[in-house]
Amino acid sequence: MLQSIIEAADFIRSQTGDFKAEAGIILGTGLGGLVREIEINHTISYEDIPHFPVSTVEGHSGKLIFGLLGGKRVMVMQGRFHYYEGYTMQQVVFPVRVMKQLGIRFLFVSNASGGVNPNYEIGDVMMLTDHINLLPSNPLIGKNDPELGPRFPDMSEPYDRKMIHHAREFALYEDFKLHEGVYVSVSGPCFETPAEYKYMRIIGGDAVGMSTVPEVICARHMGLPCFAVSVITDLGVEGKIQEVTHQDVIAAASKAEVKMTAIFRHLIAKHL
Ligand code: HPA
Repeated sequence: MLQSIIEAADFIRSQTGDFKAEAGIILGTGLGGLVREIEINHTISYEDIPHFPVSTVEGHSGKLIFGLLGGKRVMVMQGRFHYYEGYTMQQVVFPVRVMKQLGIRFLFVSNASGGVNPNYEIGDVMMLTDHINLLPSNPLIGKNDPELGPRFPDMSEPYDRKMIHHAREFALYEDFKLHEGVYVSVSGPCFETPAEYKYMRIIGGDAVGMSTVPEVICARHMGLPCFAVSVITDLGVEGKIQEVTHQDVIAAASKAEVKMTAIFRHLIAKHL
């Protein structure tokens, strides 16, 4: 595995020269607009990178973008890999390992999710303070490579407390609503039944989605600090549950991505 990570990273370096990103950013469904804020130096299609999986889902275009955001060097995954697409957990997290190999010091992640906290509304943004992994697997299952991280990694601080603090201050200063909550990850691809949404709330969740947790587990295994936000695209709250389609999710995410982009840009510019 280490060999394929190194080969992918070497290929990317052969394309980007001495550009060294300080942070990696993974953009969720309908949240690709952050790329418009980047002064782009290089773009690489996933299909050109050795060992990289190729994205299949609508709304994910599958490119690695290198450039400046808030004056800092970043690399952005426009399009991510989901377990429901049929990838193994190891494939889902492979790009995170490659980004770490390329030298990133921080990982930012975004996703679209269903709100189960009754105070949430469509279009709200929630930063993750913690998560509950209900995916049927874990990317670290299998032989552990000690060069990547320990067999039994600590998860006492899945999301970086300092960044959460800075994001909270930023939202207060800018006077916008930024929730803090627990993200529950599920396999999908079905959205939840009403009883399942209720269960997510009972176990302590504020939002539910089909991504992010594998990447964060993999990043924390390698000691990489993480910050993640969910854009609430639909509600799994009793009395407010409506039929959901992927198009609804994309439309709601596109509207809220301005806030998400502002938070990421601020944290990267001022606190990285
Ligand atoms: N459930 C799971 N994943 C999601 C949802 C949801 O309601 N909305 C967007 N991604």
